[in-house]
Amino acid sequence: MGKDKLKDSKRIFHSQDLIQPALSYPPADHAFKGKWNKEFFKNDFPIVLELGCGRGEYAVNMAKKFPEKNFIGIDWKGARLWRGAKTGVEEKISNLGFLRIQIQNLYAFFGENEISEIWITFPDPQMQQNRERKRLTHLRFLSMYQKMMKPDGIIHLKTDSLPFYEYTLEVIAENKLKIIKQTADLYNSPILDDVLSIKTTYEQIWLKSGAKICYVEYLVNSGG
Ligand SMILES: C[S@@+](CC[C@H](N)C(=O)[O-])C[C@H]1O[C@@H](n2cnc3c(N)ncnc32)[C@H](O)[C@@H]1O
Repeated sequence: MGKDKLKDSKRIFHSQDLIQPALSYPPADHAFKGKWNKEFFKNDFPIVLELGCGRGEYAVNMAKKFPEKNFIGIDWKGARLWRGAKTGVEEKISNLGFLRIQIQNLYAFFGENEISEIWITFPDPQMQQNRERKRLTHLRFLSMYQKMMKPDGIIHLKTDSLPFYEYTLEVIAENKLKIIKQTADLYNSPILDDVLSIKTTYEQIWLKSGAKICYVEYLVNSGG
């Protein structure tokens, strides 16, 4: 990290915009759990998470586009989060925050019914068989999301990995969840719109290499 970036990161890491909780195992419940609206955003707007957000392109762009919703970008890598948090501070985006935690510990940070939408943007596909439990759409994660999401909560997945997309469709079918939209080729699909056209850092790399982008949107609690 260069000198300026380091100086900036200190300022931002000490501001409220990028929250880096102290590590503990198992993680203790965070002070904001169940209270993000009241204590952090200070409004009643719906809360949307971007998981594995990297530089947070979805969180940043959607926060600007939808001022009546709140956005939290979540990742484990501080230098990537720093980029999104810097934009948030510089552009004074008040409905945006970043949280540096492991996604498997989300349950210590969000209470029941607290989240309205989750975006999972270009997750590591973890397609080796012995890594199935690490996939962010695995039942282990889905069960955790279901507890913290509203009854009509929505999950959006964008990925360059056809096997990961197909795996997620299987999890959706096994759990009898309702699909709202789906495509294995987003940029040649009629469902493409302003929001789905937002491009993350990884997405731009994949598009340049000619990859097709898959997208599925589903209701998290629709299972019978
Ligand atoms: C392939 S990158 C995609 C980044 C960004 N969404 C994009 O599209 O440019 C996957 C991101 O997920 C994060 N990540 C993977 N597993 C994670 C976990 N268990 N907890 C937190 N972050 C995780 C990585 O640090 C990385 O930034």
